[in-house]
Amino acid sequence: METANLPALAEFSDAALAAFFAEVRAMFDREAAQAATPAATEALRVRWVGRKQGLLQQVSELVKRAPAEARKDVGQRFNALKREIEPRCEEFATAGPAHASQKLSAVPLDVTLPGIRPALGAEHPLIRTMNEIVGIFQRMGYSVGIGPEVESDYYNFEALNFPPNHPARDTQDTLVVAGQEHRPARDRLLLRTHTSPVQIRTMESQPPPLRIVIPGKVHRNDAADATHSPVFHQVEGLCVDKNITFSDLKGTLDHAMKELFGSSVKTRFFPSFFPFTEPSADVQISCIFCGGRGCRKCKNSGWIELLGCGMVHPAVFEAVRGRQPEYDPENISGFAFGMGVDRIAMMQHGIGDIGLLYSGDCRFLESFV
Ligand code: PHE
Repeated sequence: METANLPALAEFSDAALAAFFAEVRAMFDREAAQAATPAATEALRVRWVGRKQGLLQQVSELVKRAPAEARKDVGQRFNALKREIEPRCEEFATAGPAHASQKLSAVPLDVTLPGIRPALGAEHPLIRTMNEIVGIFQRMGYSVGIGPEVESDYYNFEALNFPPNHPARDTQDTLVVAGQEHRPARDRLLLRTHTSPVQIRTMESQPPPLRIVIPGKVHRNDAADATHSPVFHQVEGLCVDKNITFSDLKGTLDHAMKELFGSSVKTRFFPSFFPFTEPSADVQISCIFCGGRGCRKCKNSGWIELLGCGMVHPAVFEAVRGRQPEYDPENISGFAFGMGVDRIAMMQHGIGDIGLLYSGDCRFLESFV
């Protein structure tokens, strides 16, 4: 059984096959070593792996002629040969022999060269600030919860004492999920406008006492400008127990602001309105840029408004009592607060345009690595 150029293969015994494949392999190595010019390497490629009359093709013809009992062995030996020869022909063809052999052996490995450092990502400045805020409350014994970003009208508004068509809803216009007209109004889905719906979800799932912070993403139908983005972030807080008072709320937030911005920061509380807290307040901190003397950042007032808060409205407790009877406003009380993470991150890092936080621009993000 002889084919042009190939060594003889008289029979299909183990020994004969081993000798045959070893000789073919040696033949290839000899020829590859001599192929020094691009033309020669191309000729080598055609001679060995050419489609029609390539030597590998001829070896495969032999394989086909093997008797049934030897076929598996022959097949395996053939595949091993092919795996060896084909890539080397390709390598020669694309890189040329000089480069190919360099790649294999000629370039010494210099282990003293600096390595290639994989680029490490960094926490997004928003996430970093959010974790920092959450950490401050964790150290005061708060647990951490999350809730869905696509929320029902009930949790986002109704259970929080925004009745249908109440004007307070106008301040929190948002995107609603289309095609839900067949559903009752309270079940219609929308992108949550604040993290407060998670207050309800949390109370529905666990009885008092409760201390929890809820970080997350929220949406509002606001036109984007330097200080507004239709997507932003909040950290919500809720504390419910026996005898929780407004002074607990003041002490907690005053401590949190000092942790966040430094111990010289002062806080003050202004009357405000939220349907789900009574009384409600806006919290201001003394301007961290001018120390309260008045500057451009605080519009010369010396104060910067940072968050909303208040005592949990009895109507909110009533909304969860069906599931958790222990939220009886006669026996327990609580406070809640919600702060915008974006503003705080912008103050911490001197970022003037909120849009940068959402642009995905690596030049901006790399400055936080
Ligand atoms: N959810 C309110 C907002 O987004 C903030 C807030 C939370 C106010 C909790 C009071 C209590 O404006």
